[in-house]
Amino acid sequence: MDDALATLYTAHVTIQKLRYDRALSEAHFDNAVVFAGALHYQFVDDMSYPFKVNPQFKAWAPVTDNPNCFIVYTPGLKPKLLYYQPVDYWHKVAGTPTEPWVAKFDLIMLATPDDAKPHMPKGRTAFLGEWDERFAAWGDFTPNPEAVINSLDFDRAWKTEYEIVCLRLANERGARGHRAAEQAFRDGLSEYEIHLAYLRAADHVDEELPYGNIIALNESAATLHYYHHTRPRFDESKLYSFLIDAGASYNGYASDITRTYSRRKDEFQSLIDAMDVMQRGLVDAVAPDVNYIDIHLLAHRGVADLLHEFRFVRDLDADGIVERRISSTFLPHGVGHLLGLQVHDVGGFMANRSGKTIAKPDGHPWLRLTRVVEPGMVFTIEPGFYFIDSLLAELKASDNAKYIDWDRIDAFHKYGGIRIEDNVLVTDTGRENMTRNAFAHVS
Ligand code: GLY
Ligand code: MN
Ligand code: MN
Repeated sequence: MDDALATLYTAHVTIQKLRYDRALSEAHFDNAVVFAGALHYQFVDDMSYPFKVNPQFKAWAPVTDNPNCFIVYTPGLKPKLLYYQPVDYWHKVAGTPTEPWVAKFDLIMLATPDDAKPHMPKGRTAFLGEWDERFAAWGDFTPNPEAVINSLDFDRAWKTEYEIVCLRLANERGARGHRAAEQAFRDGLSEYEIHLAYLRAADHVDEELPYGNIIALNESAATLHYYHHTRPRFDESKLYSFLIDAGASYNGYASDITRTYSRRKDEFQSLIDAMDVMQRGLVDAVAPDVNYIDIHLLAHRGVADLLHEFRFVRDLDADGIVERRISSTFLPHGVGHLLGLQVHDVGGFMANRSGKTIAKPDGHPWLRLTRVVEPGMVFTIEPGFYFIDSLLAELKASDNAKYIDWDRIDAFHKYGGIRIEDNVLVTDTGRENMTRNAFAHVS
């Protein structure tokens, strides 16, 4: 962490404390203990799963790879960081952290997980993280009290300056990976090889990715969460398209970026270009006090326009297409979600810090964000347009089948689909497209 980021981190910890002070006092707790999490082992095996830190822990400290650590916070007191450093010659143990951010904590080293016990606070304590029965004897703990979690989740939608810089840097890492992946696609490499090119350029191993890379050639792009990395290359004559949804991490903050490419300058490329214009339009619609549901509905309108313009639908204009919900066959997911410590960040439906929620609009069950957006919030804008067999079969069996040009749909089937996904920060005057800026930086 350089000096400039360390300064922003100091302010971030102050905001973190204020959020905890409010959440704890409103729920009548004296303290919070935030557990990083424990390692978990595969069934009948001594191999652990990759460690994934509790997001509430990494909100306090940029420590993402060390289990059995705790933050102990009592309002008004300096927080403690209980830092796990066992004697272990089988594994590499965490080094003693010495970077400037450590000064925000009283650092206490733990040689065993249970060495944490004497450092636990007195009084009513909100325990945040994975609960284990042995903790019950460590203090007056309430595991994951809803009132505290709701309050913290609600606040988490507004990113601190420190978090915004981390998210920009996660976008730059991701953009580097995406550039290399595009080149690998242009070179005719396999999904597996493109994945490796991405990892190298993003400076990640798989476990450091915020989510599994989606690297889809041809019709695999129609599988929304396609996690295969097929080894063989396609023959040039049978290679048509490439959809890559891949992010990167920086100090535990995630980017979430999708691009789609055509192998040739063909009609699919024209559809990608039209989607790109549409996606930019959605981003331009982001501003303080805009209802995110309206952006989602605007995306459906955009897909309907393209269904009409590219003649997939006949005898209906865009309004008719939306009215008959035909756009949902081609855009069957939400237009985006909050982003931050988790790729699908928490709190997307919250009306207030008490946990009241804002309903999704009828017919849009997969939307993950229904809040009115405000400066400091970060989310994705990711419209899609796919040719998905099961959804097309439903459409074909419906009353709407008569409006569809099935020959044209068949002609596009081999491309799978399109998604274009950027990470957007709401500013006082509009928005910052972190992803497009990152691509401009790294090229
Ligand atoms: N990468 C998962 C998503 O876009 O939501
Ligand atoms: Mn994505
Ligand atoms: Mn996303």
